[in-house]
Amino acid sequence: MAIFVTGGAGFIGSNFVINWLSESDEILVNIDKLTYAGNLSNLDTLRNNNKHIFVHGDICNDELIIKLLYKYKPRVIINFAAESHVDRSIHGPKDFIQTNIFGTFQLLESARNYWNKLNFNDKNEFRFVHISTDEVYGSLKPNEEPFNELNRYQPNSPYSASKASADLLVRSYFHTYNFPVLTTNCSNNYGPYQFPEKLIPLVINNALNGKNLPIYGDGSQIRDWLYVDDHCAAIKKVIEFGKLGEVYNVGGDNEKTNLEVVVYICKILDKLSPRLDGHLYEDQISFIRDRPGHDQRYAINASKIKNDLRWKSSETFATGMKKTVQWYINNLDWVESTSNKEHLDWIDTNYD
Ligand code: NAD
Ligand code: TYD
Repeated sequence: MAIFVTGGAGFIGSNFVINWLSESDEILVNIDKLTYAGNLSNLDTLRNNNKHIFVHGDICNDELIIKLLYKYKPRVIINFAAESHVDRSIHGPKDFIQTNIFGTFQLLESARNYWNKLNFNDKNEFRFVHISTDEVYGSLKPNEEPFNELNRYQPNSPYSASKASADLLVRSYFHTYNFPVLTTNCSNNYGPYQFPEKLIPLVINNALNGKNLPIYGDGSQIRDWLYVDDHCAAIKKVIEFGKLGEVYNVGGDNEKTNLEVVVYICKILDKLSPRLDGHLYEDQISFIRDRPGHDQRYAINASKIKNDLRWKSSETFATGMKKTVQWYINNLDWVESTSNKEHLDWIDTNYD
């Protein structure tokens, strides 16, 4: 048996793949289009691991996906593949519609084709796990309760609207075809291998390079931060114990304003890698034009996954952030590697 991961060269996907293969001997087929956000160097530690089969491919390519499904016969598909950056979705929504909506549809169709032909036992065991975001629920007012699984979908950006559409397609495959899906809606993740266009790695990298630390608007917007390994642990619980057709919200109970997060990073950097001129990193903070349609607050009520699947996060914001900042300090060459595409040559010579 095998498992399939899509988008496993991106931030959360690569953390998941590394984590999974550190504990399992099962073949893991990792299908990634290697967009600007996909980086094979995230998977460098797996170069000699023959359980990891990387395929440079697109989830929209049903011919390829079907071929791979029949070849490797997975018992689980975990769909991380997506365009994931809100700002890019504002500048150019088309790729988001293509991958997040059409790609999820094609993947569902390919998987349903394969699943339909499985024998009774394999059909019962099969799972399609769709990784989504809390952003589908829209924005909370200060006094509103954190999102639970019954909140209305009210996406506000092309990114969240495309993820919401995908979630609804996934839901419909369960109700229409009995196709065995599970969905997770997680809050903002942080940790190693996050592409440095997202707030936390961007701020660490800019700080160390003496650049401005851009804060949109007044920095009062709130996100609920979760360390990426805790998200991966939640996904594993869902694969193993999740109830078919169900949705699980995942979050860190760490609501912070963007300004609090940036100041926190500055303080860690002041200790771990102080500026040579004796100034504080906070001096680099710069308030810039706000994001259009900027959601004010996200917060997750994760009681369902905590109670039903016995998941809980292991990292606090303090321990997770310290690890994360230290990781970026130690891996400046990785940050550098995200800005060039020399890895593409490496793929051609090393992979299927
Ligand atoms: P990411 O942008 O870092 O990685 C996405 C990966 O998908 C990249 O490796 C990219 O090459 C690949 N990809 C894109 N289009 C593809 C396609 N058509 N076919 C195959 N591969 C394709 O994203 P991430 O932050 O790791 O997010 C992973 C998933 O988790 C996404 O579905 C996202 O919506 C969801 N999510 C992310 C967060 C977060 O804070 N980062 C929070 C909740 C949910
Ligand atoms: P981001 O990491 O892009 O995640 P998301 O938009 O999916 O929540 O942004 C996190 C928050 O930080 C969001 O409120 C936008 C804000 N932000 C900034 O203030 N400055 C920046 O340079 C970036 C990238 C984000």
